[in-house]
Amino acid sequence: MQVHFIEPSVSPKGILVLGVDKDHKLTKTAKELDAKHGHFLTHFLDQREKKDKLDEPLCLTAPVELKNVTHVILVGEVEDVIELGGKVAARANPLKKDTVTVLVESVMAADKAAEFAYGYKLRSWSFDKYITKEDRKNHQPKKLDVAAADVKSAEKTFTRLNAIYESVVMARELSSEPANVLYPESYANRIKAFEKEGLEVEIYNAAQLEKMGFNTLLGVAQGSVHEARFVVLQWHGGKKGEAPLAIVGKGVTFDSGGISIKPANKMEDMKHDMGGSAVVAGVLHAVAKNKVKANVIGVMGLVENMPSGSAQRPGDIVKSLSGQTVEVINTDAEGRLVLADALWYTQERFKPKYMVDLATLTGAIVVALGYRYAGLFSNHEGLAQSLQAASATTKEKIWPLPMDAEFAKAIRADQADVKNSDYGVGAGSITAAQFLEYFVNKTPWAHLDIAGTVWSTKASNLFDKGATGFGVRLLYQWIEDQVH
Ligand code: BES
Ligand code: MN
Ligand code: ZN
Repeated sequence: MQVHFIEPSVSPKGILVLGVDKDHKLTKTAKELDAKHGHFLTHFLDQREKKDKLDEPLCLTAPVELKNVTHVILVGEVEDVIELGGKVAARANPLKKDTVTVLVESVMAADKAAEFAYGYKLRSWSFDKYITKEDRKNHQPKKLDVAAADVKSAEKTFTRLNAIYESVVMARELSSEPANVLYPESYANRIKAFEKEGLEVEIYNAAQLEKMGFNTLLGVAQGSVHEARFVVLQWHGGKKGEAPLAIVGKGVTFDSGGISIKPANKMEDMKHDMGGSAVVAGVLHAVAKNKVKANVIGVMGLVENMPSGSAQRPGDIVKSLSGQTVEVINTDAEGRLVLADALWYTQERFKPKYMVDLATLTGAIVVALGYRYAGLFSNHEGLAQSLQAASATTKEKIWPLPMDAEFAKAIRADQADVKNSDYGVGAGSITAAQFLEYFVNKTPWAHLDIAGTVWSTKASNLFDKGATGFGVRLLYQWIEDQVH
């Protein structure tokens, strides 16, 4: 889809989008067109039974005199034009037209046109690369023309937003890829290509990780024919020597549960158990594209969790990179084993100012918060608040849950320092976060459990059903907030 910002006076083509203000009156551009064409819009609005403020776009076929226009979509004027862009996309795309022209007053103002286009694109993306029947693919217009009062300024803003869009889509794409295509090695190879954006990319293979002492990460991978990888991304956009912001992601390319194998029902969903690492990839990509003035580290622990003769067993005791020993009670509580080494490594090597991890860590977070809120855990009040502030901006919702020494105690093992699961305490998402805390020392750290939010069986204003890319916009915003 080509996005163009146009002068409001340009004559519309294809699907025409017009605004209706809060008092149910046509806005300036709509009114002029209406007067020119026998008041077809006024007539249409008058005939409606319910005179609401058009929360959902309304679609009508265009009068023949309106040359080159097939449909008119009426929208209520709103503040959040990112969401509005998404709503219009959901309505317009199924009409399968080549061009959409947007002449909406509130979208013309300042940089709103760019935001509208951003929302439109976010909602339009879907994963249909493996569908071979053209007519079953979702349609997107070839051209999106959005009227802007200041075309130059809209273009500039859109360049920045489009980089974030591409990064969200990259995260969605990675999460959508099946596990026969995306496994640690192939995944790391894709990330290697980020070097051309000016990122430093280091990739460690299993032999190197063994020498380095990444035993809890490697323990998860040992049942799979696919070797583990560990990826470190660095962006040096800030002052030399300034402590970096670090984000760490769980990258389990498939989580069968291992020997503690999962039931068959919905096991296919576990191809997206690398969603946290996909957010890391997306955020670092966006930060580099937009040359953000911060030092940012991205860390991805990539493994496949499979049962086999070489797989890790329940009861195994493993020495983590930190030196602490872990008793593996349940091989399906693998994400925390991957993160244990990844977090420890990150804080030891980079001494980050803040460290945030993202992980599809527990099914329990879905029980607690459902599919639209991610769980927030932190050892640092200021960091937690800054994440909540970024979340309020991007509307990717997060909700704080407690950390408590009692839970930390509950996962002490009888035969090792800690155990990766406990069958008696409940609060599965908290004990998981508490396990991670054993591997972060005093570093200001936050953990986002995104198990419920990375994938959606329903469309929303800004995503179609499927991978949501949840977290990319949030963490990118958070990093920009740290700079300003
Ligand atoms: N990857 C899962 C968590 C998950 C569940 C993500 C549903 C997305 C949707 C994680 O590795 C896991 O299996 N967690 C276990 C932990 C338990 C064994 C202590 C869980 O939540 O059941
Ligand atoms: Mn698991
Ligand atoms: Zn998992």
